[in-house]
Amino acid sequence: MKDVLIELERRRDEARAGGGAKRITAQHERGKLTARERLEVLLDENSFEEFDMFVEHRCTDFGMDSQKYPGDGVVTGWGTINGRQVFVFAKDFTVFGGSLSWTHAEKIMKVQDMAVRNRAPIIGLFDAGGARIQEGVAALGGYGEVFQRNVLASGVIPQISVIMGPCAGGDVYSPAMTDFIFMVRGTSYMFVTGPEVVKTVTNETVTAEELGGADVHTTRSSVADGAYDDDIACLIDVRRLVDILPASNVATAPVLPTEDPWDRIEMSLDTLIPDSPTAPYDMKELLEKVADEGSLFEIQAAFAKNIITSFGRIEGKTVGFVANQPLTLAGVLDSDASRKAARFVRFCDAFNIPIVTFVDVPGFLPGTAQEYGGLIKHGAKLLFAYAEATVPKVTLITRKAYGGAYDVMASKHLRGDINYAWPTAEIAVMGPKGAAEILYRADRDNPEALAKRIKEYEDRFANPFVAAERGFIDEVILPHSTRRRIARALRLLQEKRLENPWRKHDTIPL
Ligand code: HXC
Repeated sequence: MKDVLIELERRRDEARAGGGAKRITAQHERGKLTARERLEVLLDENSFEEFDMFVEHRCTDFGMDSQKYPGDGVVTGWGTINGRQVFVFAKDFTVFGGSLSWTHAEKIMKVQDMAVRNRAPIIGLFDAGGARIQEGVAALGGYGEVFQRNVLASGVIPQISVIMGPCAGGDVYSPAMTDFIFMVRGTSYMFVTGPEVVKTVTNETVTAEELGGADVHTTRSSVADGAYDDDIACLIDVRRLVDILPASNVATAPVLPTEDPWDRIEMSLDTLIPDSPTAPYDMKELLEKVADEGSLFEIQAAFAKNIITSFGRIEGKTVGFVANQPLTLAGVLDSDASRKAARFVRFCDAFNIPIVTFVDVPGFLPGTAQEYGGLIKHGAKLLFAYAEATVPKVTLITRKAYGGAYDVMASKHLRGDINYAWPTAEIAVMGPKGAAEILYRADRDNPEALAKRIKEYEDRFANPFVAAERGFIDEVILPHSTRRRIARALRLLQEKRLENPWRKHDTIPL
């Protein structure tokens, strides 16, 4: 028995050594942790149980039969995060650059299947160069199997991808089909084809950072949802995110006890809206004052800043906040903001997370750049997402709700459950100046007459009461009591039941 135990330990040590001491040192020198070190940070202490530690690839081409590493470049298993089960896989860059062989794929498929069967989130840590080149179609087939499982798990369990090294091919397409992607600045890259291929095919010279670094993907492409300075900061925030999310689409998110009173009055909100209707203010202040203290977790904070998408808690329960941000582009809806918010709304709806929407929107962004870029289809995504969502929807109009954007932003007409407005709300087809100029063309060149027309329009629509008289706004509330009103609304809606008609799936304008 003793010999058997010694042999087991020897084999375990061999597997834990990955691609060997030299490659592990190189990994550390690049500022990266190894796959196992990362799992230690991500999971509760001593909670990790590993599967398939002794699996080896079966490739015999290109001298591969003499190069075998137990575990074959990916560490898989399950563990807990603050006591809740999660399934994990972590690519080991020290073994063939973390590339995916058929057996490596089988290991990932196993945890994907178990995660769905047991209704628990799955988290992938990526540091890998895609399909293993020596395996050819076997590796491609392996990725196909992983992709198929990503799709079947979508909307059933949360899938989170963390990019922690150079990632290409399948190691970017699989994350792309998951719910959230986080990156590490300076060490992680995502591209379908790397800088060398780019140079060969397009003759474009570009660095890995410029092509697919964390800044590119969090500010320009919107492929990634957040970026961090190092592996540890990133993994610690992923733990926070897991705490916010339900384990599956049939579970509720954990309730985190809070000392923050549900009926906290915030007198400062009474003066949040500036006197001038065009002056900006920071919508984040409203989110911070309404959510439980310290509970916000923003998604895509650096992209399309004219809309805020953030998880947060009210009375300890997870909600999704969507809010126009007057500080950027006056909070206008453009293609990027519409896509960003649509994705968030659909995630919340899939996982039964109530949506709280704060509206201050002057409309959709006019211009050729937007129209040529498909604003009609992108704006429609957000409209569609809100309209199909059946989770509790609580909306507050703080100031402007103009034009189509009024309809889009979780209005009563899209089955908003509780629609509040502050007394400062202005709900109209467009801003008073634009309206007067169209309605009274003859007065265009007569500033005095035009000013009178603008004032008339303002007096009629620059308030919430016209909408409230029709029942499109349920109540005009005092800003200082916003947290209390929203908390009560969410309590009311806790048992909400609403189903859309049966269909195979909708045809959202993609
Ligand atoms: C086999 C690979 C590999 C791969 C890297 N390695 N990628 N082995 N298959 N795909 C090995 C290297 O040979 C090297 O081995 C070690 O991993 C580290 O790689 P380096 O190149 O030295 O590291 P670095 O300079 O940091 O560059 C990392 C990289 C680069 C950017 C990932 O290696 C690279 O471009 N790899 C190829 C990416 C790729 O085109 N993959 C195929 C995608 S197709 P040693 O022994 O020296 O340690 C795909 C299809 C899926 O995935 C379908 C998509 C829809």
